[in-house]
Amino acid sequence: MKCFTFATSFCPPKMNDNNAIAKLLSQYDFPLYLAPMEEVTDPPFRRICKNLGADIMISEFISSDALIRNVDVSLRKLTFDETERPFGIQIFGHTEEALREAAEVAEAAHPDFIDINWGCPVKKVVNKGAGSAILKDIPKMVRLTSAVVNSVKLPVTVKTRLGWDELNKNIVSAAEQLQDIGIQAIAIHGRTRSQLYRGTADWTLIGEVKNNPRMTIPVIGNGDINSAAKALEYKDRYGVDAIMIGRAAIGNPWIFKEIKDFYYHREFTPPTYNERVEMAMLHLRTAADWKGEKRAVFEMRRHYAAYFKGITNFKPNRIRLMDALTIAECEAILKDHPLYV
Ligand SMILES: Cc1cc2nc3c(=O)[nH]c(=O)nc-3n(C[C@H](O)[C@H](O)[C@H](O)COP(=O)(O)O)c2cc1C
Repeated sequence: MKCFTFATSFCPPKMNDNNAIAKLLSQYDFPLYLAPMEEVTDPPFRRICKNLGADIMISEFISSDALIRNVDVSLRKLTFDETERPFGIQIFGHTEEALREAAEVAEAAHPDFIDINWGCPVKKVVNKGAGSAILKDIPKMVRLTSAVVNSVKLPVTVKTRLGWDELNKNIVSAAEQLQDIGIQAIAIHGRTRSQLYRGTADWTLIGEVKNNPRMTIPVIGNGDINSAAKALEYKDRYGVDAIMIGRAAIGNPWIFKEIKDFYYHREFTPPTYNERVEMAMLHLRTAADWKGEKRAVFEMRRHYAAYFKGITNFKPNRIRLMDALTIAECEAILKDHPLYV
């Protein structure tokens, strides 16, 4: 079965199947992941991206320590809707025990796979030895990942970076070792930890991992994909099995539709002003249901610039939106524009 449209009728990965993720990806002609992004890719935003063509979703990262201590915010991040499948829960941590236990808690939420975050560059995570800090100690990365693989029946995948810094780009060897202990896919952001988000993502090493004859698991490319042309070009040039998109989807969830439309039809019609308003309002309303009106209105501010990028004379509306406190106010401001019909 090929999923030509934004199908939810995919064949779910089977437990204890060593090729489950490869089989899952083979159901899509041009598989697209929505990258996990803390405080961005919550359920309301994920559903919008899913409806616009993102295929595979991953939760925001969840601290294994917090998860096993039943911290409410972390437990809440396990929530997803059936329509979001295939869905992975991402955990991070720095000890074998906590990661193993957290993976078991995550598995009980019945996602389709468990993803381990070995890429987060944020200081408070790295200082504890979690996230991308592990790139300084590949044997530990392998040992902790193996503990997770052996503790759950679901497929386990890894998301990471090229290496710790410019002098230590060890992803080719790390990927081989992770494959050997049973991970089923690896997503690679083409930057080192020390780059944080600076410079441009280097896909050549992602391509090297993919084209390493020893590698058989799917390799997912990530970093700076912000247009259909780039997605199509990079997938072709580096041979990756799927593309993962993060920041370019913020305020522009149409990026997934744009890529699919270009892939199938070589054209894409950008959304009209009214369609943008409708989508922003849908986002705002569903976010309010999820986290309350006040927080939703506040957090939505970071999305407007991109939702309305390229719209002439939108600036006065955007400035007013920064002071709006209710959904009704936001809606009135968005509709108060000459392009609104
Ligand atoms: C606001 C924000 C939050 C993020 N949170 C996570 C996270 O929870 N887990 C993770 O693996 N990566 C996280 N990332 C990294 C993204 O998943 C992705 O790897 C990175 O943004 C590069 O891809 P892009 O160039 O398409 O944005 C985050 C990135 C941003 C900008």
